[in-house]
Amino acid sequence: MKSAEIRTRFLEYFRERGHRVVKSSSLIPDDPTLLLTNAGMVQFKPYFLGLVKPEFTRATTCQKCVRTTDIEKVGRTARHLTFFEMLGNFSFGDYYKKEAILWAWEFLTVEMGLDPNRMYCSVFREDEEAYLIWRDVVGVPEDRLVRLGEEDNFWDMGTTGPCGPCSEIIYDLGQEFGCGKPECRVGCDCDRYLELWNLVFMQFDRDEKGELHPLPAKNIDTGLGLERLASVLQGVATNFETDNLAAVLEAVCRLSGVRYGEDEESDVSLKIVADHSRAFTFMVGDGILPSNEDRGYILRRLIRRAVRHGRLLGIDRLFLPELVDVVVETMGEAYPELQQNRAFINSIVRSEEERFTQTLRSGLTYFRQAVEKLRVEGGRTIPGEVAFHLHDTLGFPLELTRELAREEGFALDEEGFEALMEEQRERARAARLEEGYSAPIQEIYAEVLENFGESEFTGYETVSDHGRLVALVREGRAVAQASEGEEVELFLDRTPFYGEMGGQVGDTGFVRSPSGEARVLDAYRPAKGLISHRARVERGKLVVGDAVDAEVDQERRRAVQRNHTATHLLHYALRQVLGEHAKQAGSLVEPQRLRFDFTHYAPLTREELHRVEELANRLIIEDYPVRAYVTTYEYAVSINAVALFGEKYGDYVRVVEVDEISRELCGGTHVARTGEIGLLAVVSEGSIGANMRRIEAVTGTEAYRYFRRRMEMLEDMANALRVDLDGLPQRVERLRQRVRELEVELRRKEREGMAALADGGISWQEDRPAGMSVLYAEVPGLDAQALRELAERTLARRKAAAIAVASPEGEKVGLVVALSPQLVDAGLSAVELVRKAAAVLGGGGGGRPDMAVGGGSGREKAGEALRLVSAEIRRTLEGAHA
Ligand code: ALA
Repeated sequence: MKSAEIRTRFLEYFRERGHRVVKSSSLIPDDPTLLLTNAGMVQFKPYFLGLVKPEFTRATTCQKCVRTTDIEKVGRTARHLTFFEMLGNFSFGDYYKKEAILWAWEFLTVEMGLDPNRMYCSVFREDEEAYLIWRDVVGVPEDRLVRLGEEDNFWDMGTTGPCGPCSEIIYDLGQEFGCGKPECRVGCDCDRYLELWNLVFMQFDRDEKGELHPLPAKNIDTGLGLERLASVLQGVATNFETDNLAAVLEAVCRLSGVRYGEDEESDVSLKIVADHSRAFTFMVGDGILPSNEDRGYILRRLIRRAVRHGRLLGIDRLFLPELVDVVVETMGEAYPELQQNRAFINSIVRSEEERFTQTLRSGLTYFRQAVEKLRVEGGRTIPGEVAFHLHDTLGFPLELTRELAREEGFALDEEGFEALMEEQRERARAARLEEGYSAPIQEIYAEVLENFGESEFTGYETVSDHGRLVALVREGRAVAQASEGEEVELFLDRTPFYGEMGGQVGDTGFVRSPSGEARVLDAYRPAKGLISHRARVERGKLVVGDAVDAEVDQERRRAVQRNHTATHLLHYALRQVLGEHAKQAGSLVEPQRLRFDFTHYAPLTREELHRVEELANRLIIEDYPVRAYVTTYEYAVSINAVALFGEKYGDYVRVVEVDEISRELCGGTHVARTGEIGLLAVVSEGSIGANMRRIEAVTGTEAYRYFRRRMEMLEDMANALRVDLDGLPQRVERLRQRVRELEVELRRKEREGMAALADGGISWQEDRPAGMSVLYAEVPGLDAQALRELAERTLARRKAAAIAVASPEGEKVGLVVALSPQLVDAGLSAVELVRKAAAVLGGGGGGRPDMAVGGGSGREKAGEALRLVSAEIRRTLEGAHA
C-alpha cells in the first residue's frame, strides 16, 4: 500500500466517524514557544487549552512535522527522521479514551490488516482506566499489555503546554530486528519494537514552574507515524525504503554513483541526505530561510549536513536543487505549496549550498592553521573561540568542528563555544527588539539580514556598482523571481543606492541583470543595515541569485548632494548670524530643493536673511573641501562635531566636515567641494510652530533658475514701462506719485461734474406743494457719496425745499432725500421718506432728518418711489395748512 493511499484511508476512516478533515498547518507554528511544528496537535493547541472554541469537536489531519532532537540518530536507525508525516485524530472535549483506543485498534487491525498477534500496547503506570479498556474492551491479552513510566507514557509538547498520560501501539518487527541483548523488550531503544501510534489523553496544562493544571475539558490527541506504518505495510526494513523516501534515496544513489546496502557508513550518508532533503525542501517551502538563529539555523544545519554527507559520498558538484525536484515530484500532490514555491526553494537551497561549499574551503584552512598553532604550543584542546569563529564567521556547524577535532586527536572546548554563542544570541535578540521585530514583514527583513548580512553601501564612492540580487519581496512575501510589470523590493549584497535616511531622500536608477531590468523608484532602509530598492520590473525578469549592475541616477544624486551640503552651510550660517541657539530641528533634502527647520524665537528680518544667504554663498564661492570619515563618538564630541538633538548614535559615527568650518555627524552623501553647489537661494522663511522656523532654499541649477525667473519678471516690467532695468525703481516711484496726483485730480473733477449736473445737466421734475419747490430726478450710476453731494448742492443752488434722487445701477437703485431746515421744522424726516421710498423697492435706508440715503432693487419702480416722496411731502405740508 502506497503512502498516499494510507494517508487517504486514514483521513477517510475518521471522517466517517464525524471528524473534520483539516489541512496540515505550516512548519512555522503559530506558537512562540515552539520553533517548528513537531506534531499534529500544534495547530489545535488553543482548542486544548480552552482559549478558543473550535467550530468542530473532532478533527483529523496528516501533518508535516520536523523534529531535530534526535538528528544524530538519523541514518543510524531504521526509524528516526527529521521530517515525517503524522496522521492524527483529535477530540476537543468530545470522545475520550475508549473511542480513541477502539478506533486506533480497529484501523490498524481491520482497515490496514495488521496482525494483532504482533502488537503490544503500553499504558501509563497509573492509568488503570486505559489498561482495563485494552484488556476487557479490546481484548488484548495481558502479556501484550505493558505499564511504563512517565519517560515513555506521559506526553508533553515541550516544557510547557497541554500534556497527559498516553498509550502506545507497538509493532513487533521480530527478533531479527532486535539488539540481541537479554533485556530487550517493549520500550527498548533498538529497532525491534516499533512505536506506531501514540494516543495522548490530554488533560493537563503544564505551567512555567512545571506544575500541572487540569484542562477545562478532556481531550484526545493521537499521532501515527505515516512512514513507520508504511514500512510495516510495505514490508521494508526501514523508513528509508518506503515509497516516498525511497524515491529520494534512489536519487542520491544516482547522483553519487554509490549503491545502497553495500557499506554501512555510506548507507548512513545516503539516508541522511535523503531525510534532510525532504526536511529542508518543506521548510523553505513554508518560507523559512537559512540563518544563524532559531528555525533558520536548524534549516541551515540540515542543508549543510546534507552537503557535507554528499561530499562524503563523493558528489563534487552542486546537487541539492536536484533533490529538491525529486521531493517536489513525490510529495507535491499531497502538499501543493511545494509545487507553488518550487523555484523559490530551489534558489534558496542553491545559494546556501554555494555558500557552504566556499565555507568548507576557507573553514578547513582556518581549522588547520589553528591546529598547527596548538601543536606548536603543545595544546590538546581546540578553544571555544576557534569553534565560535568557525561557526560565526565561517559558518561551520559545531558538529563539523567536533568531527574534525576528533580526526586530529584533539578535544574541543564546547562549553566555551556555547558561552560565546549565548552572548551572541543575546546581542541579536536585543537588537531585534529595538527594531520592533514583531510585524511579519519585519520578520522577512530580519531574515534577509540574517541570511545575507547587512547591505554593503558603496554609494559614498560610486554611483554604479556590481552586486548580487540576494532577495526579492513582492506583496509582503519573499519570492524567487519577479517579471515584467511587477512592483518589488530588491535586496542586493552591495549597492550604490542611498536608502532614505537623515532627511536625505533615497536614490533612484536602474538594476539590471542578464535577463531583465528594473527601474528603482526609491531606496529606503526597512531595518537597520538593510537597504531596500522599491522597483518596477520593466523588462524581462529578475531572479534571486542573479549578478546585477546597479546604477544610480547620477544627475539626481548630484542635485541631492548639493542640497545636503548646503544644509550644513545654512546651519553654520544661521548660527553665525542668529546665535548658537539656532539649531537644526529637522531637514528634508531632495533633488529640487531643501528644507531646513531650526530653533529661533522671531521671524528673521530681511537683513538677517540676507546675511545668512550671503554667508552660505561665500562658503560656496570660496570652494572648501568637504570630507567624511568614521570615528568614535567620543572623538567626534571632542572636536565639537554637531550632533542632532534626540538622535541615538552608536560607538562609531560618521563625521562630515567642510574644511575647518563646519563639522556634523551625518550619514548622508555630499559634494566633494562646496564650489559644486554653485549658488544658493533662500526661497522662503516662516514659522512652523513655537520658536521653530523653516527655511526653504534651492541650489545649483535650481538656484540659478530661481534667480533667472525673478530677473525675467523685472525685465518684463521694465519693458512694459519702457525703461531699462536700472531706471525701473525711479520709474515705479514716479508712477506711484502720478497715480496719487491723478486720484486727487479725479476727485476734484467728480465734484465739478456733480456741480455741473446740479447746475442743469439733469432734467428735474418739480412739484410745488404749498408754494415750495420739491425737485426729483433719476440719475444713473451714482454711489451713495455722490448722491449725497448731488442732493446737498442742488438744495443750495436751486433754493429748493426738498430733493429726491434715484440712481439705478444694474438692478440696484440708490436713493437720497435731502430736506431744507423749514421742512424738517415742519415735521418731515428724510429718514422716514427714504425708508418709504425704499420700501417700494423692497429695501431700506437711514441717515439724518435732513439727509438720508437708501436703496433697493427694480429700476422700473424708481419713478414710483420718487413720486411717493413728493406725494408724502405734499400730504404733510398741505395737511398742516389745512
Ligand atoms: N502529540 C502526540 C505525539 O506527538 C500524539 O506523539
